[in-house]
Amino acid sequence: MLKRLTVHDIVDFKKRGEPIAALTAYDTFTAKFLDRAGIDLILVGDSMNMVVYGEETTLTLDMEQSIYHTRAVAKGLSRALLVGDMPFMSYQPSVRDAVKNAGRIICAGAQAVKLEGGRAAIPHIKAIVNAGVPVMGHIGMTPQSIHKFGGYKLVGKEEIDAERVIEAAVALENAGVFSLVLEKVPSGLAREITSKLHIPTIGIGAGVDCDGQILVVNDMLGLFDEFTPKFVRKYAQLSSEIERAVGEYAKDVKTKAFPGEKESYS
Ligand code: KIV
Repeated sequence: MLKRLTVHDIVDFKKRGEPIAALTAYDTFTAKFLDRAGIDLILVGDSMNMVVYGEETTLTLDMEQSIYHTRAVAKGLSRALLVGDMPFMSYQPSVRDAVKNAGRIICAGAQAVKLEGGRAAIPHIKAIVNAGVPVMGHIGMTPQSIHKFGGYKLVGKEEIDAERVIEAAVALENAGVFSLVLEKVPSGLAREITSKLHIPTIGIGAGVDCDGQILVVNDMLGLFDEFTPKFVRKYAQLSSEIERAVGEYAKDVKTKAFPGEKESYS
């Protein structure tokens, strides 16, 4: 029987220098495959709004969708730590909203929640942690602030911005996050933050020196082909495999090659 990883195990990965392999998942059976394949941490990311629901941004995902998919993913896991993402405006309006909605995600089966933001998110993070819920931070390029950034841009290229990202990372660690996603920041900056913090950094477009890496599962499996960020490596091309298989099925149906004897009852 596999032991279910906890947030403490995730912190221990950094202590012993073992990289953390993380991916997103949104449904039970994908989650089961990732878990079996040895993924340590699974995030039910708000990226589902784009790669599952076909929306242009992550902004319109709501709490009900987040809870629904967290519950589905939880059913597929035996070992990986499950982190549920807090949707846009589920925590920003007030500390009270933040604690209440974090609790709802935990009740759906997550072991921790993730929320985006630097210093402005600290009161919310402290209150959630005080309520007994582990929090994963997320800084650098934060997709919920796309309109503020004016696009999915690299963050921390200028020295003054880099200083701000470092300060935010240290402040979030002091506020009690158990790990920190660094999205789309230069590798050198991610390296510096990773060496400053005691908690693990999980990079996405942040270079190889983070304590772990995360990708959107639909991106790395080639299931989402609307656009592909530079930081994605495609480990499979499932969209063309699906098109091939379904095309063959359609042809078999139209030529009456399916079903055959084997697939029929006498
Ligand atoms: O929503 C998401 O998938 C994320 C990861 C990309 C870190 O926030």
